[in-house]
Amino acid sequence: MLLLCIESSCDETAAAVVRDGRSILSNVVASQVDVHARYGGVVPELASRKHLEAITVVVDEALGKAGVSLGEIGGIAVTRGPGLVGALLVGLSVAKSIAFARDLPLAGVHHMEGHILAPLLEQEIPFPYLALAVSGGHTHLYRVEDIGSYRILGRTLDDAAGEAFDKVAKLLGLAYPGGVLIDRLAAQGNPQAIDFPRPLLHQKNLDFSFSGIKTAVLNHVRRQSGPIEGDQLKDLAASFQEAVVDVLSRKTMRAAEETGLKRIVVAGGVACNSGLRTRMQTLAREKGVSVHFPSPALCGDNAAMLAVAGDRYLEEGRRAPLDLNALASWPLDQAGCELSR
Ligand code: KG4
Ligand code: ZN
Repeated sequence: MLLLCIESSCDETAAAVVRDGRSILSNVVASQVDVHARYGGVVPELASRKHLEAITVVVDEALGKAGVSLGEIGGIAVTRGPGLVGALLVGLSVAKSIAFARDLPLAGVHHMEGHILAPLLEQEIPFPYLALAVSGGHTHLYRVEDIGSYRILGRTLDDAAGEAFDKVAKLLGLAYPGGVLIDRLAAQGNPQAIDFPRPLLHQKNLDFSFSGIKTAVLNHVRRQSGPIEGDQLKDLAASFQEAVVDVLSRKTMRAAEETGLKRIVVAGGVACNSGLRTRMQTLAREKGVSVHFPSPALCGDNAAMLAVAGDRYLEEGRRAPLDLNALASWPLDQAGCELSR
């Protein structure tokens, strides 16, 4: 089945055409980063407006690049939540309109479900597996039993990892979103230069906390007499990233040990981080488990990632109703089969 996928939960307007939930024919992403950068973060009202401007163009482009017409599409998958409700509603309305006009089945997919299944678009990974989902809004550890069956093992109690990267970047005067800029600076700095805290690392649970690291960076910046530049900035970025990567990787390995899961997926925007990729690969080799990252284009927000779950749900005849509503907050363990209201 050819699936048209639509994602608009935050600041990327995205559409994709995917065959049988596995092979990507097109994956178009229109980023709004430039619009929000001057405000240092996503402005929800602006995000909705920009989605409205871009969505039909992006859907047309996805069909064009895939070389298919709307008549050849067999179903629609759309992000139902979680995310900015005004932004979600744009994608959802377009998806429902096309589904209604063309009498196509519709699947409502959880945004994080999309992220943690994304590597299946590129490689075979047998279930069950452990997933570390790290993005701008989420930092969660999930047991992925199958498509549609997820258990939350741990989560952040405050900031998400990506949010911490972006906030630290902002207080260092870097552009939004700053995660990738910190990553680049960190590659040139000394990760042992400043000993930032590792919150919750030695607690037995699998939860995370990043606001303490962010505050420690703020306090460090305030203690300096002048602006932080050059090698000092590189060392700070490297030490901050080291603290975040240390906590994420060691807690994930602990989760693998406790659950006995031998395969780990790391997904979401922060899965692009080079420090996290290297550390996870090193630890996985030591512990005899495998670690799988989506390629960078499938780590950040995109629509193709919705196809894995969307295709399965529609193959099973689990269609969402046309009055499907967006959900700003939606725990993943309540997603899966819960496709209707
Ligand atoms: O998954 P995503 O594209 O959108 C959300 O669902 O939030 O993740 C975006 C987040 C942002 O916080 C961004 O700064 C972060 O991922 N990010 C990175 C890197 N690339 C993107 N963080 C650290 N290092 C990177 N290389
Ligand atoms: Zn995301």
